[in-house]
Amino acid sequence: PDNMVVSERGRINLSGFDILELAEKYSTPLYIYDAHTIFHNIDTLKDTLKKYYPGESIITYAAKAYFSLRFAQFIAKTEVGIDAVSENELIFALRAGIKPERIHLHGNNKTYAELDHAVQANIHAIVIDNFEDIEILERLSHKKSPISVWIRVNPEIDEIATHPYRNTGHSVSKFGLTIRDGQAETAIRMLMANPNFRLIGIHTHIGSQIFDTAPYKQAIGEMLKLARRCNWIPAEVCPGGGWGVPYRHDEMINNNIENWIREISIVIQEEYRGSNFLPRLILEPGRWIVARAGIAIYTVGRVKQFSNGEKLLAVDGGMGDNIRPPLYQAEYEAIVAENPLGSPTTCYRIVGRFCESGDELIHEIDLPEVQTGNHLIFPVSGAYHLSMASNYNLFARPAVLWVENGSVNVLQERENLFTGWWV
Ligand code: LLP
Repeated sequence: PDNMVVSERGRINLSGFDILELAEKYSTPLYIYDAHTIFHNIDTLKDTLKKYYPGESIITYAAKAYFSLRFAQFIAKTEVGIDAVSENELIFALRAGIKPERIHLHGNNKTYAELDHAVQANIHAIVIDNFEDIEILERLSHKKSPISVWIRVNPEIDEIATHPYRNTGHSVSKFGLTIRDGQAETAIRMLMANPNFRLIGIHTHIGSQIFDTAPYKQAIGEMLKLARRCNWIPAEVCPGGGWGVPYRHDEMINNNIENWIREISIVIQEEYRGSNFLPRLILEPGRWIVARAGIAIYTVGRVKQFSNGEKLLAVDGGMGDNIRPPLYQAEYEAIVAENPLGSPTTCYRIVGRFCESGDELIHEIDLPEVQTGNHLIFPVSGAYHLSMASNYNLFARPAVLWVENGSVNVLQERENLFTGWWV
């Protein structure tokens, strides 16, 4: 986070709070979001859009990266909208006070009830992912007509440098209507000809944790070409989210958000050059807004040494709160909270406490000597950790704090497994 510093006493402070004191008070595993980082990221996105895109632009936050009711209430104070992908994300956004005209709903298998809710809530757009979406919405159109929709298309770009589980724009992706075989065109023509629909936007999302602008340019080019073939000028164009964030400080990747926004803007402007029209540009980043704003804090419970010299630290969280290392071989760094400036002397493997060999958070990291009872801080823990958390082994999900201008808010209490689903 922007606000994480080491004090003169060698203690780690986040937004003025001593992290070890917070860990003591709220116990671990503990997640903390720094408000300043989130609002700063949002401002950076807004300013960069203003700088490079002369048309209107909107940022919608992909709630799947991290969402909770209290978090949504903080987002509601900004101008940022919400990309929801389930009825519950939609309900949380609405309850938090996010305006329906700033919400759109995705999903490759939306239920009738979900679509019904979205229609009645009068949200900005429901994203058509397949032909059955059109059929169900047609049936719902007696409740509201026309229904505002986007169409999600699949540009079939197979060569994207990201983990295969994160590529959503390849030819057999379960998301969206394919362009090459004419399905997307058929759907667009159906929607344009049907007075029960108002087709306002075209969307694609090619994947996540991407650092290369080329596939975005290609995808946007394909979708604008498609619109042109259909004699359709989309009022809104959304190339999804997916711009990457470095997780380790030695990652020499170009994380410049300017590149992403500039290149996207150029492709769209080129398409409409000569006309005095530009579509509204909508971005739906998740990770870029929250990943670096969140940290995880664990307590080391056991230190184990093997006869081959290998050393292992077992912390009190793991794959239940962060599935990313086992699922995507995601790599992280950790800081020893008691000795943040100490020089690294020992190589450790960091594992969790879940009953699964794959429950490993860091395969190898050089750290100053660590003892049982020390705390490890994992930066860049704000995206796709808690939103993908589980209760494996009946471990409770962690408490989540929000620090802002000298105040601490509890976003989520440590989970109580003795009420609700498990009992
Ligand atoms: N829009 C759509 C339609 C999406 O499917 C996603 C993410 C986003 C936007 C936001 O992407 P972002 O800006 O956060 O990269 N669990 C994986 C990432 C899965 C992303 C799913 N869709 C991970 O932890 O790396």
